[in-house]
Amino acid sequence: MSGDNPYADGRGNKDRSIANPHGAGDAPYPGKSGKAVPVGGDAPFLIGEAMTGGYGKGPDILHECTIAVNPGEIAVIVGPNGAGKSTAMKAVFGMLNVRSGRVLLDGEDITALSPQDRVIKGMGFVPQVRNIFPSMTVEENLEMGAFIRKDDIRQTMEQVYELFPILKDKRGQAAGELSGGQRQQVAVGRALMTKPKVLMLDEPTAGVSPIVMDELFDRIIEVSRTGIPILMVEQNAKQALEIADRGYVLVQGRNGHTGTGKELLADPEVRQSFLGG
Ligand SMILES: Nc1ncnc2c1ncn2[C@@H]1O[C@H](COP(=O)(O)OP(=O)(O)OP(=O)(O)O)[C@@H](O)[C@H]1O
Ligand SMILES: [Mg+2]
Repeated sequence: MSGDNPYADGRGNKDRSIANPHGAGDAPYPGKSGKAVPVGGDAPFLIGEAMTGGYGKGPDILHECTIAVNPGEIAVIVGPNGAGKSTAMKAVFGMLNVRSGRVLLDGEDITALSPQDRVIKGMGFVPQVRNIFPSMTVEENLEMGAFIRKDDIRQTMEQVYELFPILKDKRGQAAGELSGGQRQQVAVGRALMTKPKVLMLDEPTAGVSPIVMDELFDRIIEVSRTGIPILMVEQNAKQALEIADRGYVLVQGRNGHTGTGKELLADPEVRQSFLGG
């Protein structure tokens, strides 16, 4: 389907540099120390920079945490349960007020924007939990995903069905009746309905079999090749780092290790502590 590529129209960028093992360049990322490197003129396409904050009046969960992604890249966040991976994603999406730090999208400071305004700016987010409407049909879920659009959504829906053919077969079925892997496809498809400029996925392969996980990763790579940068949290750390241009290991709300997927996979300490040796 590369010829009539769904998501590479006007809004996304058309960078296909995912095929380039060096990614989109040497954008500023936190170094091994975990300290965020100040962002200069060419900030990453999306960056949550030195984010510190927690829930409500509670203690800080994130401590100067930086995560970023560039066009053509898949950036993967891994780390132990409770490390703050979902919290970092929520902070980037605006579901959490950061006490310090900022979020930049395509050079624009969006730290003060609501999640809905971030969607309008081009962010697509698939949360870890409650990411579909179970009692609605597959097609209704996709329609809901396009809530901000006033133009014709049929073409985008066809593109989502091309990416996930099973959803077309099940378009009239309640999403809650689908298998775990199929529900995750609905969730990703729903996020794509806004034609996002960047896609954020929190554990897209949670609770699915290894085969379904591989299939989902293939689809995610396919979306990424259309030029949409992808920032995702994954519990299947090894497999995810294998497809990651950029990887972050979060530890207790801080940047523990940062590097290319390859570098992290080769790092003895990362292997020992986070990848089971
Ligand atoms: N809504 C919330 N209100 C208060 N504290 C929360 C909330 N959600 C998460 N936390 C706390 O924030 C910390 C980080 O949680 P978070 O969900 O970000 O971790 P995670 O790395 O995504 O873990 P997992 O791998 O289990 O998904 C935990 O101590 C958790 O208890
Ligand atoms: Mg989580």
